[in-house]
Formats: sequence, C-alpha cells, structure tokens
Amino acid sequence: MSVDAAAHSKNVRLGILLSGRGSNFLAIAESIRTGKLPGVEIAIVISNVAEAPGIAAAAELGLPNAVLVSKGRKRAEHDADVAALLDAHGVDLVCLAGYMRLLSPEFVAAFPHRILNIHPSLLPAFPGLDAQQQAFAYAVKVTGCTVHFVDDELDHGAIILQRSIPVLDDDDARSLAARILAEEHIAYTEAIARVVSGEYEVRGRWYVKAGTKGPNHPSEQTALAPPLRDPGREQGSE
Ligand code: GRF
Repeated sequence: MSVDAAAHSKNVRLGILLSGRGSNFLAIAESIRTGKLPGVEIAIVISNVAEAPGIAAAAELGLPNAVLVSKGRKRAEHDADVAALLDAHGVDLVCLAGYMRLLSPEFVAAFPHRILNIHPSLLPAFPGLDAQQQAFAYAVKVTGCTVHFVDDELDHGAIILQRSIPVLDDDDARSLAARILAEEHIAYTEAIARVVSGEYEVRGRWYVKAGTKGPNHPSEQTALAPPLRDPGREQGSE
C-alpha cells in the first residue's frame, strides 16, 4: 500500500471509471448515501472522456474526480496514469461503470480480483458492444445483467452475480434496455456488498461463499483475493 493510501480512511475505497452517462456510478453513490453500502466510500471518479455526463455528475456531488483523456494515447501509458491516480487516492476496488476502453494486462495484474465490471447481458451470452440489442435481435426469452471480475479477456472474468428479467412480447430494444438498466443499478450495489463482505472466495471461475463445499473439482484452484480491509491501514500505520 502506498503512503498516500495509508493516510486515507479505513473504509473500502472505490475508484469508479466511466466514459459516459454514469447512471451505474450514480446508483452506487446513492446506495452509499442511503446506507446500503456501509464502510464503503467513493475515493475518486475518473473519466477517459472529457464530455462524459458522469464526470460532471461526480463534480456536482462534490466527489473527487478527474479526466484522463485516453484518445490517441497508448493503452499501457494511459492505464499507468490511471493506476497511479487510483493509488494516490488509496483505491481498494476499481468499479468499471460504462468504461468504454479495454484495459491493459498490466492494469489488470495491478488489481488482482479488484476490478469489477457490469455488462448488460447474462454472460457468456452477448459479450461486447450493444448487448441488449444483440439479445433482442436473437429473440431470447430471458436476459439481464452480469457483474464480474475483470480478467484479460473481454467480458470474461469470474461472475460475482447476475440478475435476470423476462423479455416481454411487447418489448422493443429500447424498453428492454431500460429494464435491464434498472436491474444493473441494483446488481452493482449487491455485487460490491458481496465483495466487500469478505465472505466470498474465487474458486476457478466460481465466486462462492467461503466455507461452502463445492465446487471442488481438482482443476479449480482456490484463489483467495487478499482482504480488502488492510489491517495496516486500520491501525493507521503506513
Ligand atoms: C451499462 O449498460 C453497462 O452495463 C455497460 O455500459 C452501460 C453504462 O451505462 N457496461 P451508465 O453510463 O452506467 O449509465
């Protein structure tokens, strides 16, 4: 942990990365404000797009915020700047909230099981862009959203939780996307609460309650994420 981080509070500190509207960020902020995420705070909101409405909303809420424009920059160099800013703000958990930029392997490795993403489909169905439209065009009967850890592959890491909704006969792509978004706003808070609780562990692709029996296939190695609450910080040491 950096010296700067040690100076910050013992709350679990979120770093939000966004590129656009920011409704998921605002849902998280509202959950914190209304006490649904005790012991969690937003340390900084970072946008890679100067005009993102989400970053203006962060400023209006009085939250620390920054724009680090990514356009025209090498991915690894831009990511290194983002990582340095997150570190300077003592960020424990990175939440991608409509961050429209692939992360470099170096960035992902710097935050092992510490980067969350939300995707508007039931993964592994419909990864990538326009997932809601993809689901609608495929004419699925059920869709939803997924919060997952980020790994080196697109929309791929271990799933933290999913919320599903039926596709209604009178849905169009727009109404479906709106109902998925409403689920996203619930799902992200639930997922953060789950990760922060320290009660879950990663076993291969599974993210399950610690102490539960399965899955225990030999190929599934338990990868315990380091605790989010740093004892050193709680004692106020560096
Ligand atoms: C959401 O649909 C999210 O699932 C996807 O990008 C969109 C961001 O929306 N990753 P918002 O900026 O949070 O409103």
